[in-house]
Amino acid sequence: MTDGALILATLEAVAERHGDPTAEIYAELFAAHPKLEKLFWLDRDGSVRAAMVQQGLECILDQVGEGRTAVTIMADERSRHHGYGVPAERFDDFMIAIRNAFRRILGEAWTGGMERAWQCLLAEFAAIR
Ligand code: HEM
Repeated sequence: MTDGALILATLEAVAERHGDPTAEIYAELFAAHPKLEKLFWLDRDGSVRAAMVQQGLECILDQVGEGRTAVTIMADERSRHHGYGVPAERFDDFMIAIRNAFRRILGEAWTGGMERAWQCLLAEFAAIR
């Protein structure tokens, strides 16, 4: 399987096994970086957090697919988030939290191939400036 196919297989398995992973993604992010949670104090209904997961998944699908929009979106969001008070060194932790949540959800179904494919994808996103 190509890396792209392994990433898509992960997304499908998570959707099948667990449904919406939003709560698990933020549980991972805030467990690793508790200080980030207070940045969402205005997000009473969770719509910002949901919109971020939506956009994160769209960037992943584009990056392993046509590769037409993710680079621009990630570069734009990286600079915009500076204005939101998100430390530059923390920005990449959102995609890491997505990978960690999927790995936790899939448990024994998470393969070495998936681990390598996600490592490559995270490195690609971290390189976008
Ligand atoms: C750890 C990393 C990140 C943190 C702490 C973070 C935090 C935030 C916060 C606090 C807001 C609300 C800003 C406001 O309206 O005042 C926000 C908005 C947003 N973020 Fe992030 N973000 C992170 C990474 C990302 C990434 C990687 C993406 C894109 C893939 C993203 C996409 C968005 C979008 C689309 C919005 C606007 C949502 C809306 O207004 O409905 N964020 N982010």
